[in-house]
Order: sequence, then C-alpha cells, then structure tokens
Amino acid sequence: MEQKNCEMINKLDGTNTKWWKKSVIYQIYPRSFADSNSDGIGDLQGIISKLDYLENLGIDAIWLSPVCKSPQDDNGYDISDYQDIDPMFGSLEDMEQLIQEAAKHHIRIIMDLVLNHSSDEHRWFQEAKKSRENPYHDYYVWRDGEEGILPNDMKAAFGGSAWEWVPEVGQYYFHQFSVKQPDLNWENPKLRQEIYDMINWWTEKGVGGFRLDVIDQIAKEPDKHITANGPRLHEFLRELSRETFQKADLVTVGEAWGATTELAKLYSNPDNSELSMVFQFEHICLDQIAGKEKWDLAPLPFLKLKEVFARWQTELYGKGWNSLFWNNHDLPRIVSRWGNDGRYRVESAKMLAILLHGMQGTPYIYQGEELGMTNVQYEIEQYRDIETLNLYKERLEKGYTQDEIMRSIHAKSRDNARTPMQWNDRENAGFTDGTPWLEVNPNYKEIHAQSQINDTDSVFHCYKKLIQLRKEYPVFTDGRFQLLLENDENIFAYTRTNEDSQLLVVCNFYDKTLAYPFQKPDESMNLLISNYKDVSETMLRPYEARMYYNNQIKSK
Ligand code: NOJ
Repeated sequence: MEQKNCEMINKLDGTNTKWWKKSVIYQIYPRSFADSNSDGIGDLQGIISKLDYLENLGIDAIWLSPVCKSPQDDNGYDISDYQDIDPMFGSLEDMEQLIQEAAKHHIRIIMDLVLNHSSDEHRWFQEAKKSRENPYHDYYVWRDGEEGILPNDMKAAFGGSAWEWVPEVGQYYFHQFSVKQPDLNWENPKLRQEIYDMINWWTEKGVGGFRLDVIDQIAKEPDKHITANGPRLHEFLRELSRETFQKADLVTVGEAWGATTELAKLYSNPDNSELSMVFQFEHICLDQIAGKEKWDLAPLPFLKLKEVFARWQTELYGKGWNSLFWNNHDLPRIVSRWGNDGRYRVESAKMLAILLHGMQGTPYIYQGEELGMTNVQYEIEQYRDIETLNLYKERLEKGYTQDEIMRSIHAKSRDNARTPMQWNDRENAGFTDGTPWLEVNPNYKEIHAQSQINDTDSVFHCYKKLIQLRKEYPVFTDGRFQLLLENDENIFAYTRTNEDSQLLVVCNFYDKTLAYPFQKPDESMNLLISNYKDVSETMLRPYEARMYYNNQIKSK
C-alpha cells in the first residue's frame, strides 16, 4: 500500500523528474551582493566573481531580483525595459555571460518577472498617457473622474491613494504600489502577448526559470476593490504558462501573499498547468497584530507557527509543491526575528535552517542567511527603502511617537535584509571599494563569509551540509510529513516518512534548556546533522536542533 501510494505520488507530482524538487535556490539581491566597479552598487560582474562561492555552498539555482532597466524607484521592481539590463548592473552581454558562467558552475539563473506593473518610464506608459486613443492606453488600468475626486478609496501599498491623475487624458491610473509603478491591464490580450514574447525571449537566452512578482494581483478589479485573487487570475496564469513556461523545463515560483492551501493546489498543480510553486506568507505574517499592518508588532504565536507549517506540508503532499523560506529582500533577517542574534546567534541560525530544510518543498536561501547575518538598527536617515521612508512619514503624521515608529522599522524594515553582503573583515565588508549605497551592518568584522567557508562549525557549513543531505536522501523529497508534540510550547518536532526510511527533526525553538522529549535514540537512528558538538540523551540545550535518519523502519 505504502509502495503504491508512493508510485502514485511520483506519477502525480513527478518527484523523479522535476529538477527543482531536489534543488536549493539562492536569492541574490544584486545591488547588495558584490560590487565589481566600485560605484557602491552590486552588479552582474560582481555576481560572476562569486560563482565559486555559490558552487561551494552547493546551490542549484540563483533567483536574481530584478536587473532590467529601471529608474529604481522601488529598487528595480519598477521596470522601464524588460529586454535590457540596467547600466547600474551591467549590460545584456554581462547577463548572457552570467547565464553561461553559472551553467559551468551547475547553477541556473531564475529571473524576476514584474508583470503586475511596469515603471511609469516604460515606453508603453509614456505612450499610454498621451491620449485615450493611443494604442498603448489600454495597457494600463484607467478610470474617468475629475481632478481631486478619486474613483474610490483604494490605497497603495507604499502609502497614499492607489489612483493618480493624468491631466493629458483626464483620467486616473491605478497603481497598487508606488505612483511610479502603474498597474498593467491583463484584460488586454495585446499586452498579454507582449509579455509572452518577452518571456520566451529570455527563455531562449537560457534562463532556468522565473519568479513572478505579486502574481496574484494581476487580475485586479478595482471597481470591486479586488486586488489579489481576482476572478480571472487562474485563467490568466494557465494561458501564461501554456504560452511560455510549458515550452521549456523551467522552474516558476509566484509571489502570492493571498495564497491559501486550496489556492496553492491550483497554482502548483502537478499537471504543470500554472506554476511550479508559490511563495505563501501565512507563517511570515504571524508576528503582527491580526488584521493590521506588518509594522504592528505582536509576539510570534509558536503553536500557530507549527500548525501553519503542518497544514501546508500535509495539504500539498502529492497535490502541489511548497516553497520553503524564512527570508527574502522584503523581510527582516530570520535570526534576529525568531532566533537570537546575541549569545545564540550561531545555534539559532542553524536551528532555523535545520527546521526548515527538513520539510518538503524547494528551499530558498536569501543572501547572507547562510552566514547568519542579522538585522540593523539604523537612524531614519540611514534607510533607503521607499516603503520604510513612506511609513515613517505617514506614521509621524498620524501621531505615532518616533520611538514607536523606529521600533517597528528596526523589526520589520526591508533594509534589514538589504544591507551589503558581508564577504570579509576589510572595509565595507569587502562588498565595495566605493561608498556602499546602503551602509554595511557594523557587525561585519565578526560575521563574514571568509571566516566561515573553512570552518566546519559555521552557519555556512550547516547550510552546505543540509543542501548535500537533501540530494543524498530521497526522503527529503518524498517523505510524508507528520507534526509531533503539537501542543509543546517550546519544541518543534516532526517526522518525514517514505516507504523505507524516516527523518526525525527535533528543534528547541527557545533559549531554555529542556528535557529531550522522546525515547533515547537507539543505534538505528543516525544523527545526520545537529548544531551542538555532542548530543545529550536527556537534554535539549538552547536552540538545539537535531535531525535523525532511520532506514530500518520496515523492521520495526
Ligand atoms: C514584491 C517585491 O518583492 C517587492 O520588493 C516590491 O516592492 C513589490 N512586489 C512591488 O513590485
């Protein structure tokens, strides 16, 4: 029966055939990764110079945050030419070189597709705002109105109204993000075709896949206040996939803040009709006051965290595919957020890695996570992020105190993740010989790659080992998840089981010493990885994490 189940799952989800089910993906935020020309901003040649480092870590693909031409109002998530590279990052030739050089290191390049909106400096928008008759006008979302009388009360994610008046056409355009990021009108088949042609052009250049920015917001219906999960979303996605992704062996991951497990089964249906997987954010939104904004801080409800992971792991099993992540360029550093960036920085960074990488799905590592990089606590003048700066202004006007606002910014600002990569203990952490666009985290002398690469006790090595283990043991890919100790307030423990083996992951999520909650491990249990040098049979030390492997479960 077990065997049959497994065969069915393999047939359904193609476990044996899809390369990205056994892969680990590394996210690079290009402007903060490595600067080759001393202008203080990371670039494509900088990335090329670090491919050996990435191959050593063992990752299979790089998700590259946007590098296309952009006025950089939102650090590249406002694209003015989808088929060219921003000079700040290099040239199209540099991009082609990166794709080729990465392939030599067995690494694929995943591009970031921003398809919900373009930059207002994109040629399409420049044309669109000339007149209502212009052939590009309908590439965007317009509503009639009078200057000063907004079509409705919808707000933009970065503050202010979601509507902006254009006197030339006597209409408002819709923007879910900044005023320089007008929303594209997916109802228009001509616009959709232009997008497909552009994606196929990149695919022919040899990219390995795409990450799709806020993809659940493309089917908006602003008159009904609908942004995410619009009625035509899955129709659009199926057409997009048919016209582009299905023509090649690509990985696709959609950013979907509004995803539920039910929706994720549509997105990541193993029939390949939409996407490979989505980034869902249910776990990420747990430490904020329900119904409020991310800046409204609340303690992490640990039991809920376990419930959320268990539900996603169980419900998508054989019916979809999970992405596994703690971090990205929009989120604070996990070790500062749910770990401990003081005394137990190394232990807690490893614990969080072990906890996540034992689950089913494709893990994503955000640059610097593999070093245990931490949040920063800057003064407001040191921040660069449009969201953070707008929030600061908006909340001051609303009467919040400076202290309250800075507490939220220190906890949640996107710039926490965007400080330059810490390569070594030289000036600017070896990121640039110039002046970095955002200040380097002052702890770079202690936390940097150079000291970790050859240290087998480092956070780097923990990630490297986890990546190797995932490739070696099929149970990481196909094992069925079961949460243990559901109501334990401190321990996150689970098993992953396939027909002949089992993983047991036991993590102490806090800085207390606890009793080891299971039977003393016997000789059938191999300790694959842990974050302390020795293992006590009776105790779990602060942030202790263990992963056992047992291949004798049949005989039990
Ligand atoms: C999500 C991206 O991850 C974020 O950085 C960006 O600001 C918004 N989408 C708008 O593109």
